[in-house]
Amino acid sequence: MLVPSAALLLLLAVAGCAVAQDPAEGWLGYAKGVNPSGEGIITYIEAKWRVGSNPRRGGAFFSPWFGIETSDNLNLIQPVNPWTGNQWQIYNEYFQWVPTHNYNSEAHVVRPGDVLFGSVSYNPSKNSYTVFHKDMNDGWSVTTEIPVQRSGGDYKKYTIVYFVFEKEWDCDQYPPDGEVTFYDIKVQYNNQTVSPQWTTAYVDDVCNNRAHIVDESTIKITWDTTN
Ligand SMILES: *[C@@H]1O[C@H](CO)[C@@H](O)[C@H](O)[C@H]1NC(C)=O
Repeated sequence: MLVPSAALLLLLAVAGCAVAQDPAEGWLGYAKGVNPSGEGIITYIEAKWRVGSNPRRGGAFFSPWFGIETSDNLNLIQPVNPWTGNQWQIYNEYFQWVPTHNYNSEAHVVRPGDVLFGSVSYNPSKNSYTVFHKDMNDGWSVTTEIPVQRSGGDYKKYTIVYFVFEKEWDCDQYPPDGEVTFYDIKVQYNNQTVSPQWTTAYVDDVCNNRAHIVDESTIKITWDTTN
C-alpha cells in the first residue's frame, strides 16, 4: 500500500468497509519472492534502484518500492519512492490492514538518476524490523523501527518479499524511461542468504506494466509510456 499522508482518513474509511489484503488494488506489475524451502522468516533484505525521469505530465501519485510482508498478507514494511505529483521522494512506510494503520516516516526529495538503497533488518531481541532508506547521491537517510504485530499471542511471520509498481494513472504520467530496475538484491531467511523463488503477476492491468525476473538479484519492471 502506498498512502500519501493527506489521504489517510479517506483510506481508513475505504478499508473499513471490506476485508482486504495484499496484493492490493492499485498494484500494477509485481514480483513475489519466497524461501524455496518454505521455512523461516525474513531476517534481512536489501536492494538498490535509480530514481526515474520526471513524468512528461505531472499530477500523478505512484511509486516503485520493495517490501516485506507477513504470511497472511496483512502487514507490509516498505521503503517507498513516490512521485508525488511534481517531485520524487523517499520515505519508509508501514501498512497494516487489521486494524487499519499506516505510518509514513520523514520524507526527502530525491532527483532523477539518484541511486537509492533500501534495507530491512530483523531485530530478534525486540521482535521488530529496522527499515533504512538512503539516497546514495546526497547521503540523506532515514531509519524507522517497526514492531512485529502479534496475532493470537504469537508474533506474525514476515515471509514474503514484494517488488512492486503501484497505482493506476494514464501512461504519459509515468516516467518516460519505461522501466525501473532493482539490483544487488540480497535476501536472508533465518540469517542465511537465499535465492528466493520468484514469480511475477499484476493486479491492475495498466499500461502493460509488468515485472521481469532478470536474474536472482535483479528485477525489472517495465511499462508503456504512451496512452
Ligand atoms: C540470527 O542471528 C542473531 C545473532 O546475530 C540471533 O540472535 C538470531 O537468533 C538469529 N535468528 C535466526 C532466526 O536464526
